[in-house]
This record gives sequence, structure tokens and C-alpha cells, in this order.
Amino acid sequence: MKIALGCDHGGYLLKESIKNHLEKKGFECLDYGTHFTESVNYPLYAKKVGYSVANLECELGILCCGTGIGMSIAANKMQGVRAAVVSDTFSARATREHNNSNVLCLGERVVGESLALVIVDTWLEAEFQGGRHQERLDLVEQLERSLKYKTI
Ligand code: RB5
Repeated sequence: MKIALGCDHGGYLLKESIKNHLEKKGFECLDYGTHFTESVNYPLYAKKVGYSVANLECELGILCCGTGIGMSIAANKMQGVRAAVVSDTFSARATREHNNSNVLCLGERVVGESLALVIVDTWLEAEFQGGRHQERLDLVEQLERSLKYKTI
């Protein structure tokens, strides 16, 4: 499975650690940067990973920033992206099983490295349950389409 990775300066160390962890487990990682600790703007990296996942270049994506929140806000602006900020293993499992999230967002300043790696493993191992959850995601998709060119 190919996984897109991205981060800003606030999530750089965690992204590197996740990449190392995933490559050891045999996953192919496409690293969209940043590759440095200098300050950068997180939406640029959310966009790269979001496109990669939405265009099916990568099956899933992982984004790291200071909190995970900015990355999730930016990534969720993109059609077809279902990004979830997670800081516990229960939510990691639930957001795959129920929301079919395709992008995981983590905050380097929120979760420690060891917990983050368990969250990543839990998220990757969980499977979407479909059924009533698919009906709900269909409604989310309708919302996404209906609001695309309208203002409220
Ligand atoms: C950068 O300082 C920080 O704002 C960013 O990494 C992230 O936490 C935004 O949501």
C-alpha cells in the first residue's frame, strides 16, 4: 500500500518517525515534505497529500503539524478527502470503521511519538464497515457537492 506523507515544521520530526516506522513495515511512502525544520505554511502540504489521495496516487495519507488541526481543516477542503485529527487509539479505529477516513492528522505537540505510532498502526489495520456508515458518507458527499459553488 502506498501512503502519502506530509508535514509542516511543527510536525516534521513526527513525520520522519512515522516514515521510518512504515518503511520498516514494508509500506511504500511518498514523502511530500516538508523536509526541514524551517517555518512553512501547512496548507501547502495538506494540498499535496490531499491531491495524492483524492487522485488515487496513494491509497491513504498522513499529515503532521503542531496540533493536527490546521492540516485537517485544510485537507478537508478538498473533494474526496476525509481527514481526521486523532490523538487516541479508540478514535483511530472508529474513524476508519465509521468515517472511512483516508487522511490521518496528528499533532506532534499533542501526542508523544510512541502513542502516535500505535495510532498509525491502529488506523491502518482498521477496516471500513460500510452499511449504515456508507449511507452517512453518501450524505457527506452530497453536502460537499451541493456547497461547492454556493454561498450560504
Ligand atoms: C505552526 O506553528 C502550527 O500553527 C501548525 O503546526 C499547526 O499546529 C496548525 O494547526
